[in-house]
Amino acid sequence: MAGATLPVRLDRAQPVPLGVQLSAGIRDLVVRGTLVRGDRLPSTRALAADLGVARSVTEQAYDQLIAEGWLESRRGSGTFVASAGHAPLDAPRKAPLTDPRADLVSLDAGTPWIDPRHGAGWRRAWREVAAARPPRGYDDPRGLPELREALARHLARTRGLVVDPDEVLVTNGTTDALRHVLTALGPGDVGVEDPGYRAAVETVRVAGRGVRDLPATAPVTDLTGLAAAYLTPAHQHPLGRVMPAADRLGALAAARESGAVLLEDDYDSEFRYDVAPVPALATLDRDRVAYLGTASKSVAPSLRLGWLVPPPSLLGAIDARRRVTHDATPWPVQRAFVALLREGYVDKVVRTARRVYAERAPRVVAALSPYAELAGAPAGMYSTWLLPEADARRARDAAARAGFRVNLLADYCRSASLTGLVVGFGGVTDDELDAALAVLVGALR
Ligand SMILES: Cc1ncc(COP(=O)(O)O)c(C=O)c1O
Repeated sequence: MAGATLPVRLDRAQPVPLGVQLSAGIRDLVVRGTLVRGDRLPSTRALAADLGVARSVTEQAYDQLIAEGWLESRRGSGTFVASAGHAPLDAPRKAPLTDPRADLVSLDAGTPWIDPRHGAGWRRAWREVAAARPPRGYDDPRGLPELREALARHLARTRGLVVDPDEVLVTNGTTDALRHVLTALGPGDVGVEDPGYRAAVETVRVAGRGVRDLPATAPVTDLTGLAAAYLTPAHQHPLGRVMPAADRLGALAAARESGAVLLEDDYDSEFRYDVAPVPALATLDRDRVAYLGTASKSVAPSLRLGWLVPPPSLLGAIDARRRVTHDATPWPVQRAFVALLREGYVDKVVRTARRVYAERAPRVVAALSPYAELAGAPAGMYSTWLLPEADARRARDAAARAGFRVNLLADYCRSASLTGLVVGFGGVTDDELDAALAVLVGALR
């Protein structure tokens, strides 16, 4: 018999008394570190009911462990673990889970500016979640109706994409949307821009499909044999180029000819500050394009929230699978985002972040352009610089020594042989950015 409140097993067939078995089981939990100092144990009554034994059995076990010093009884509040256990001697040595570079200030391409002055909006949104009651059962995996309606309006207004709320699926972000589409596509490899988004490459591989490298510096003209092609038309990741209109039409023609679906990752289109955002590729052909949107750039990546507008032919299969697997976005996150959209918070943070990026991008350009060539239009929250690999490494290493993490362009390349630096300027303060630029300039000079 196993207890639901404590993972211990008692065996009535054993000659060892149940109280002794129970004290040995709890002692073992402390020794192994499953229970740690300060953990509260269930009451003797609750544990006895749970294990189906007389209360005297649990009392005897607790008394024994209190006497041994493993547990302590606090008057009026219960029984607690008193002593810290230790990892068993035969425990495998664990590799540390922390990223050794985590203590560096990251100038990565993906971290947005989150304005500390916007705390009140968050508090209101979470208060609203706190006051609501969760739904009784599993929610509609497509997402909350009010969120899908708000997202449909948002897409029409900001991306020119006019869709019915029933065609919008709430996801846990871009790679989650990609996973959903991959489950519904016919067999075949997936083309991914090279250099390109590493998370997309991994997601395709984990789904058991091969990746074909699509050179990001050339138009897409041939998708023969591919199930899909992953593209970032608004701001090629990480080169920063906006896909010209003729290339958009060319990619669509190639998709129609081969039967491939275009996966449009529209991750940071809100952050054009030189010209108005180019309408989404999906506006040109809903049947050929799956549109993948995210709150990660505009609001916060830790929300893990995004949206997917699949081609109508894939919608039913994606929806049917999610209904079976309950593969949905957590209700509190959806509720909070409804509140943020309704209050105009999302528009506000996008406006302020755009101003911040519009001011920072030229500072990065002014600092680095004497030493490196800009790979594409500065947009969003990063810019990418072409440099000989040795120079890029020297600058990257100098930045790391000074406490900053800057990524090499080569890290985004598979068969492409572009070298340089990808310099993010979203997730840092102005002072940190200036300090990091000074180090990079010092190393490149
Ligand atoms: C190219 C690209 N697409 C999408 C995302 C966002 O992914 P997600 O929505 O899974 O957070 C990022 C984040 O860095 C990105 O760089």
